[in-house]
Amino acid sequence: MIFILFFGAKRKVFRRRIFNMETGSRMFFMFLLLSPCFCVFNPAQIDPLVYDEQLLWVSGIQGEVSSFRIPVITFTPKGSLLAFTEARKLSSSDIGAKFLAVRRSTDKGSTWSPTAFIVDDAHHPNGLNLGSVVVDEEAGSVILIYSFCFHLYHCSPASTMMVESVDDGLSWGVPRNLSVQLGVKAFAPGPGFGIQKRYPPAKGRLVVCGHGTLEGDGVFCILSDDHGQNWYYGAALKSIPYNQPKKAQDFNPDECQPVELPDGSIMINVRNQNNYHCRCRIVIRSLDGGLTLPVEELFFDNKLVDPAVAAGALQKDGVLYFTNPSNEQHRVNLTLRWSLTSGLSWENKAVQIWEGPSGYSCITSLGGSSVEDEKYIYAIYEKGHKDYWETISFVKINLYGGR
Ligand SMILES: *[C@@H]1O[C@H](CO)[C@@H](O)[C@H](O)[C@H]1NC(C)=O
Ligand SMILES: *[C@@H]1O[C@H](CO)[C@@H](O)[C@H](O)[C@H]1NC(C)=O
Repeated sequence: MIFILFFGAKRKVFRRRIFNMETGSRMFFMFLLLSPCFCVFNPAQIDPLVYDEQLLWVSGIQGEVSSFRIPVITFTPKGSLLAFTEARKLSSSDIGAKFLAVRRSTDKGSTWSPTAFIVDDAHHPNGLNLGSVVVDEEAGSVILIYSFCFHLYHCSPASTMMVESVDDGLSWGVPRNLSVQLGVKAFAPGPGFGIQKRYPPAKGRLVVCGHGTLEGDGVFCILSDDHGQNWYYGAALKSIPYNQPKKAQDFNPDECQPVELPDGSIMINVRNQNNYHCRCRIVIRSLDGGLTLPVEELFFDNKLVDPAVAAGALQKDGVLYFTNPSNEQHRVNLTLRWSLTSGLSWENKAVQIWEGPSGYSCITSLGGSSVEDEKYIYAIYEKGHKDYWETISFVKINLYGGR
């Protein structure tokens, strides 16, 4: 299979490489044999080109909505893209009434459906907060997990909620209250995506990670082994001092994005809220499918400089991608990095997606076997000229387009 695709696409290159047998091509050959995909392209030649930018949402009073924040994007099992955001009714504050909004693209991000609202929290003083999307490829469903009353602002208790689509994101069921199973600890999923384990251990498990309240903060993962029917708490990486007020530079792991590495471990890239140890990202790994997050598996990634923000991460065909506003102090300079070593090192070249104000981001790719699906990743991020929450922007990134 590998060779059929390979010969078809790059026969000439292949012949030259085999005859020369330089180190690079030998490594490429090894990569092909070991690679989790039947890849046509050589990841050593990744040179991303960002193009085809579209503003999916623009803040400013429109109907009942004042502003849009918290971008989330996912693929679907049928090869569509779904983009989600919070449509905040009264202000740009995290607290207040909101809709959960979605737009859908069935042509790889070229055109998008009009905005549809999935959930409406009416005039609730605290409202809902997005949230993680998780695709169950085995069941063919898309699940959105969000929190309700997370900030306990004129309401109690906090609830963890779920809403599901079984028709590729066209329609959504009635929200379900997962706190009946999970309890009422305040849990803010993501924001970003949860994963379905593709490799052992716990193949097929849904893993959604998020963070707690300000004092009970830390990274927590909720798990489901039956396609979202039943959920339970798995791994925790608690803040220190836990359940107590924090000071600057305390250990306070916050918003996070998990990815599954090719060895079946789960790597979670975490917002370092109080700048413990560095102004950079916390990285932690679970080796048991999200049941535990051993402190031995924790490190601070000094290369991933960060102003304390929700960032994007994606594992695709053996390469790890990462987006954040790459700046120690300010939410500016949205940058794409990539790693050929599962995050142990990053390629020196990085691509600036937007130099100006930029906030939260999320990345996805389509899982198809076409050359196009291998070549592209898709990012969504908060982008502005004066303030980063002015728009939510979508970009297509051709991984091999800059060459
Ligand atoms: C969700 O369930 C919990 C536990 O039963 C309950 O305390 C909470 O009020 C419920 N939340 C909503 C929004 O119904
Ligand atoms: C933008 O990010 C790049 C890559 O991390 C970095 O070299 C550069 O200094 C950053 N610029 C600003 C203004 O933060």
